[in-house]
Amino acid sequence: MNTTPVLKAHDLQRHYDVGGGAFTKATPLRALAGASFDLYPGKTLAVVGESGCGKSTMARLVTMMEPPTSGTLEIDGLDAVHGKKSRNVARQLRQTVQMVFQDPYGSLNPRQRVGAMLEEPLKINRPTLSAKEREEAGRSMMQRVGLRSEHYDRYPHMFSGGQRQRIAIARALMLNPKIVVLDEPVSALDVSIQAQVLNLLNDLQEEFQLAYLFISHDLSVVKHVADDVMVMYLGHPVESGPSKEVFANPQHPYTRALLSATPVADPRRTRNRIKLTGEIPSPLNPPSGCTFHPRCPLANERCKEEVPKTLTRGPVTVACHAVEEGRNEAVARAKA
Ligand SMILES: Nc1ncnc2c1ncn2[C@@H]1O[C@H](COP(=O)(O)OP(=O)(O)O)[C@@H](O)[C@H]1O
Ligand SMILES: [Mg+2]
Repeated sequence: MNTTPVLKAHDLQRHYDVGGGAFTKATPLRALAGASFDLYPGKTLAVVGESGCGKSTMARLVTMMEPPTSGTLEIDGLDAVHGKKSRNVARQLRQTVQMVFQDPYGSLNPRQRVGAMLEEPLKINRPTLSAKEREEAGRSMMQRVGLRSEHYDRYPHMFSGGQRQRIAIARALMLNPKIVVLDEPVSALDVSIQAQVLNLLNDLQEEFQLAYLFISHDLSVVKHVADDVMVMYLGHPVESGPSKEVFANPQHPYTRALLSATPVADPRRTRNRIKLTGEIPSPLNPPSGCTFHPRCPLANERCKEEVPKTLTRGPVTVACHAVEEGRNEAVARAKA
């Protein structure tokens, strides 16, 4: 296994000023309140959490569409926050990281033929290639993602949702990226199609040793694709670690609640269920202490007041007072 990370993020934060006017001060919204993680060649880090927890914000930082408010981001040995001032570095960074979006209908230009779409990145970034070489590369990638190269001159509307997502994947791979950010890549597809696209992503990852940042709210998908998992709540990572470990032995009450909400094959597990109650609070006015405390079945006074530190528990990191005090185990046992 390659143990050198291709991306290193440390304490990444992104704040937005919301609602400022002529006489009112803008309120900072902490969309991402500090996330640290590494990505490895050939491996998938899945980011999970309910809507609004900061997943897409993280994607925009990693793809350098937006700069972080604070924190460091190193991509392929380059400083992705400050290095962008150099045009050469910026260009190299852009080629290293590519993105696939959720919506295969909105993300492809309806007036552009598939072939032109695939060749465009080469036209811009590989000026020495001839038109013939570009077309060969485009057709070959089209076949690689399971589409027929006879359809090279078709428009996006002539393809199904799953086929369009294959086109988006092909386009993302044209410049041999090392990192691909996938923001809910199969959420808009029929369940029957999802597995095919996930299998394709898996094959491509192996072949090109791609590092995936795989964003999803769907744990049944994550379970199949992730090597590592990061569970987010209101902009904070609450639990991270190897996927097998986190799924088999979730520590944070929020992780347990998310897992309880997904169907399990083993009916004995249902006894350990934690039900999530209440709405997600607004990140404009987050709860004090541990931001999960108003929804947490284990919350006590300390949780209301003190922000939990991130603890290391074997291969897993978790930010929870109840875990630190061992109260989560007691509850899991009592409920079993
Ligand atoms: N450009 C923006 N301006 C203001 N608030 C934003 C902006 N982008 C995202 N947010 C807010 O940041 C939080 C996290 O959003 P997002 O990253 O899209 O979450 P997710 O992808 O997990 O649903 C949300 O409360 C969202 O409303
Ligand atoms: Mg999102």
